[in-house]
This record gives sequence, structure tokens and C-alpha cells, in this order.
Amino acid sequence: MNKAVIGLQWGDEGKGKIVDFLSEDFDLVVRYQGGNNAGHTVIVNNNTYKLNLIPSGVIRGKKCFLGQGVVLDPNHFYTEYNQIRKKIDNPKVYLSSNISLILNYHKQLDIINESILNSEKKIGTTSKGIGPAYQDKVGRKSIKLYDLKSRYAIEEKLHSIKKFYDPILESFNESKINIEQTIEDLLSFYDLVKELIVDNSLIKKEYKNKKILFEGAQGALLDLDHGSYPFVTSSNTISSNIDIGSALQVDYKTVGIFKAYTTRVGNGPFPSELFNDIGDYIAEKGVEIGTVTKRKRRCGWLDLVSLKYSCEINRVKELCITKADVLNNLEEIKVCKSYNSKKYEDINFSESNILNSLSLDDGDFEVFQSWGEINDLDKFETLPNNLKNYITYIEDYLKIPIKIISLGPERNQTIIR
Ligand code: IMP
Ligand code: MG
Repeated sequence: MNKAVIGLQWGDEGKGKIVDFLSEDFDLVVRYQGGNNAGHTVIVNNNTYKLNLIPSGVIRGKKCFLGQGVVLDPNHFYTEYNQIRKKIDNPKVYLSSNISLILNYHKQLDIINESILNSEKKIGTTSKGIGPAYQDKVGRKSIKLYDLKSRYAIEEKLHSIKKFYDPILESFNESKINIEQTIEDLLSFYDLVKELIVDNSLIKKEYKNKKILFEGAQGALLDLDHGSYPFVTSSNTISSNIDIGSALQVDYKTVGIFKAYTTRVGNGPFPSELFNDIGDYIAEKGVEIGTVTKRKRRCGWLDLVSLKYSCEINRVKELCITKADVLNNLEEIKVCKSYNSKKYEDINFSESNILNSLSLDDGDFEVFQSWGEINDLDKFETLPNNLKNYITYIEDYLKIPIKIISLGPERNQTIIR
């Protein structure tokens, strides 16, 4: 059965590690949304792989496909591809010819967009040009990978793009669009990667009866429509976007992945956020630093109310919990089970004013006692009792089985039930 690994929180749940782990049984690993705002650090046999665009199936030599829902920064892609070529023999990466590109002006516009917002309204984007690139896609202005075959096609599009954006760039003292330079850069990029570019129909045909693993980027609460708008990313991160973003219409089972606590990088509501030394301790022990922006991630207790919502909107069939080991030596571990004694189960979390109006004080918590160090990573049964209680409580609450328990960055620090 095909599978999709989807983040259920605000990203950084450990999708990279789990996709690497699971990809052994799959023929193709597919990204369907987002861009190099995503970042995974995957550690295999003491080797560290840093990936932003290329699915982590590449580490096992699996074929990887970046679908049409991805936005691709040519410079970034080429650097990442080259770096992975130094570590992996002949990595196999395909790019959908229908991918929209992120160009320099998108990054300038991302920064301008943020600069005009009052401090409490700033999104805290990764400044990678993601939002403006998706705006252009919806606005029917994107330069697509398929355009790069023709100097004329690029030039024609760039002329109207320049007319549209130069006045804005100029008014913010940003450099205007340089058509000649952009064309030259894109044509040389095309020369370097043309063998990787494929039509969607080719992938569809070649992988018709093969096993496909979909790798989500960011998390459900950053989904453009279902997340804490406007503090979201500019794509649909949830599983329903798989059909569109991959152009592959196949059945799959959704594996929802979440951290044993919650983190968020960037701004926006986060009701279970900890502003005390426990939050700092989790950040330090869990090395909660953004891989893309190097910003310290905000940390808080696990929020089952929003987790339940994320499971629903992604039709999650099984779960994976990561990084419970970070909580090992805390005296007490808490999970938020409702807000203001009322289960917000039926509330639409996309009304971010609801999330916004809640804080730690409104949370009703279940408290667990420390489980100490975990010595035996062999199977669920031999884990400390308090950790087993923690995991079982979450399963009972969500009514979905936790099938994968990840307790460290290495492949062998993973329990399958
Ligand atoms: P953008 O995707 O760069 O436009 O940023 C929008 C919001 O999503 C910001 O809060 C970012 O910090 C957040 N974000 C984007 N990508 C990731 C990710 O891969 N992990 C965690 N947060 C992310
Ligand atoms: Mg990440």
C-alpha cells in the first residue's frame, strides 16, 4: 500500500527521518508541496544529511520526484542536488516539468511583504520567496520548468512580470528585475538539469503499479486553508493536496507524525506554549533550532485538541510519535486535553481567533510522571511504564494506533509495533 507521511503540528515533527526509515519498502518518494522553506536533518550511521527539497528517500538510493505542487528555487535546488551527489552515488531525482519557479524577485517580495506588517502581524516567514511564488502561480504568472526550453517563452513572461513588479520593487529601493541576467541564469540552469525534468504522465505510467511514499512538508497547522491563518505557509500541506501536487491519482494510507511535545518556528498562536525554563530545557535538549532559518523554535506541551483536528483533516490511519526521549528526565510531563474544561473538538481551528484567544492558562492537562532514561529500545513492551502510559493515553484520546515510536535520530532508534 502507498503511504503518506504528514506532519500534524507546525512542522519539524521528524518527517525526514521517518521517510528515510520507511522508504526502504517503496519504489518512489514524492514531494507534493512547499519548497526550500522545509528542512530536514537526517542522521544515518553518523552521517548527517541536510535536505530541503529532495525527499529523504534519496539517502537509500530511492527514486525521488518533485511534483508540480512544489515551488522550486533553481539555485537552491542545484546546490542541494550537488551536495547530495557528493554523498550518494548517482541520486535519482525527477522534477515535474509543471513546477513553478521561485526567482529572485519572489525573495525580494517576501521580505517587502513582511517589512510592511506591524510587529505583531509579521508571519515570520523563512524569506525564501515561498508566498510570492505561490501568489504568482495562482495569478497565472509563474515561470514553469517547461518554459526553460525556450528563451522566447521566458522572455515573454518576464516582460509582463517586470511591468507588474518593478514599480513595487523600486518603491522599496529594491533592485528591479534584470531580464537579460534572469534569462541567462535560467538557461544555464536548464542545461544542468534538463535530464531530470519529466512530464507528469511519464511518472504516472512508470510507477503505475509500484509503491509510492509521499513526503509532506511543513505541518497541518501551517496549511493555507486549515491552519492558523494568516500565520501559515502558502500551500496546502495536508494529504488532500497529494492528488493535485503530485499529479498521481493513487490510493494511500496516511501516517500522521507528531512530536511528543509541540514546537513552532515563526509567529502565530500556540496555546500550549511554555514561557518558562521547561520550555527552554526542551528547546535545548531537543535541539529545537530551525534548520532553514536557525531561529530558536518555540516549545510547549503536546496539544491533543489540535492534534485530533489534524488527524481528522488528514484522514490519518496510523500515527508516529517522535522525540519522547527529549522529555525523559522532566519531573512531570503534561498534555493538553481540552481548553476551558470544554473539548474544542467540533471547533474549526481555521478560525485562528479561537486559537489566538487561548493560552496555557486555559488548558486542561493530563499529568504524567517522569519515565527517566530509556535503556531498552527494542520493543514497546520493554519501554518504561510511564512512557507506555503516555503513549497509550494519546492513542485512546485520538482513537488511532501509534505504530511507530522514534526515540532518537538514528534509524535503529525506532520501534515498530
Ligand atoms: P513561509 O513558508 O516561508 O512562507 O513561512 C510561513 C510560516 O511557515 C512561518 O511561520 C515559517 O516559520 C513556517 N514554516 C515554513 N516552512 C516550515 C518548516 O518546514 N518547518 C516549520 N515551519 C515552517
Ligand atoms: Mg524542518
